[in-house]
Amino acid sequence: MAEFTKVTTVDKLPPGRGASVRIGATDVAVFNVGGVFHAIDGVCPHQGGLLGLGRLSGCVVKCPEHGMRFDVTTGTSPGAPPGGGLACKVFEVKVEGDDVMVSV
Ligand code: FES
Repeated sequence: MAEFTKVTTVDKLPPGRGASVRIGATDVAVFNVGGVFHAIDGVCPHQGGLLGLGRLSGCVVKCPEHGMRFDVTTGTSPGAPPGGGLACKVFEVKVEGDDVMVSV
């Protein structure tokens, strides 16, 4: 059974914003896309940029280091061929009351 950890609250992460958080030793990037929360691996698979600090446009975050883009709902790179390109792990998210919780 998945174990969820509170990472933030709904009011602290408004739509269009992201945050970089840690769950144990795991860096996680959590995003609010139009009121729906998503979480992906917080470390860019290119060279380790913190994706939670990147700019979110729609459901796509731009890595603050070299600008690679990732769809935060799928972890994939928009425009990459099927099965190609770098991708991020996607984590399960749930909201309980005001708490945003992630399972890694
Ligand atoms: S570290 Fe993210 S694009 Fe290079």
